[in-house]
Amino acid sequence: MTPELRHMLRDDDLNHEEQKQVLELAIKFHHDRFYKQPFAGPQAVAVLFDKPSTRTRSSFSIGVAELGGYPLVIDKSGSQLGRGEPVADTAEVLTRMAYGIVWRTFEQSRVEQMARVATVPVVNALTDEFHPCQVLADFLTLAQFKGGVDNLENLKIAYVGDAANNMSNSYLLAGAVAGMDVRVAGPNGYLPDQKIVEDAQAIAETTGGSIMVTVDPEQAVDGVDCIFTDTWVSMGEEAEYAIRSKPFWPYQVNERLMGLAKPDALFQHCLPAYRGKEVTTGVIDGPQSVVWDEAENRLHAQKALLTWLIGKQRGDESLLS
Ligand code: CP
Ligand code: NVA
Repeated sequence: MTPELRHMLRDDDLNHEEQKQVLELAIKFHHDRFYKQPFAGPQAVAVLFDKPSTRTRSSFSIGVAELGGYPLVIDKSGSQLGRGEPVADTAEVLTRMAYGIVWRTFEQSRVEQMARVATVPVVNALTDEFHPCQVLADFLTLAQFKGGVDNLENLKIAYVGDAANNMSNSYLLAGAVAGMDVRVAGPNGYLPDQKIVEDAQAIAETTGGSIMVTVDPEQAVDGVDCIFTDTWVSMGEEAEYAIRSKPFWPYQVNERLMGLAKPDALFQHCLPAYRGKEVTTGVIDGPQSVVWDEAENRLHAQKALLTWLIGKQRGDESLLS
């Protein structure tokens, strides 16, 4: 197998077969936390945060350690990157020491810039545009509850809420890659960029999936296998809190909306959640909610992703499955 440097910057950086391969590997890590240790040594993986985090920080820190490595976690406040050192200079330094770079930041262009310079895999741990690690965990959760990885392409999913945010974009792309029927609903002014929708549609044509973008939440959730939502105010948008509180109310995931999905539909939320806003307490704490499995799956999915990326870079087939 020829060594190949691969990054995970947006959901369509994995194709249909590769996404399945990573998810199957994640299932193995779920059964055996120490299934593979590609970073034994320990080799360091840099995990950088320009925004707050609980799940991403813990799952990457613990995950890298369980992979035999050393997680070097650096916050914006404690780094020169936070004081304006160029991304390219940071990339030059980290790539000489670390075996992988994981970064949560603002513009997507920043992780792209990091990846252009780095000679080790770069992973997007959330940008304003995408959250691909979260959606891998969400699809792992779907696979666990809905018939396995091979059944993902038969599922219908709906994301309801701020349809212009990173989660919405990631569901569009990753769902298209998986071959799912993906529906996204949000109010006018909070719908995905046309370019993302076109990218998702182009992928869906090759995988047998389909894409629907609508302002009608009832149309979106009709007969789906899972409803997803997310906060109405993402990190960095706090100043818009007052403006954003009004248009989203018809998109709240409540018992009535859940009732329009399949009777055995799941509810997922990337968390943190605001009970009484984007989701009612009854739904998120109710029997259809799998949010704690979803959160745990960040660990398994990301360990699988890092192992797969390192396997590609080293040309080591044994790390891919
Ligand atoms: N879902 C998620 O990424 O959570 P954190 O912001 O806590 O990392
Ligand atoms: N859309 C949210 C996701 C948090 C995990 C945000 O960017 O704040």
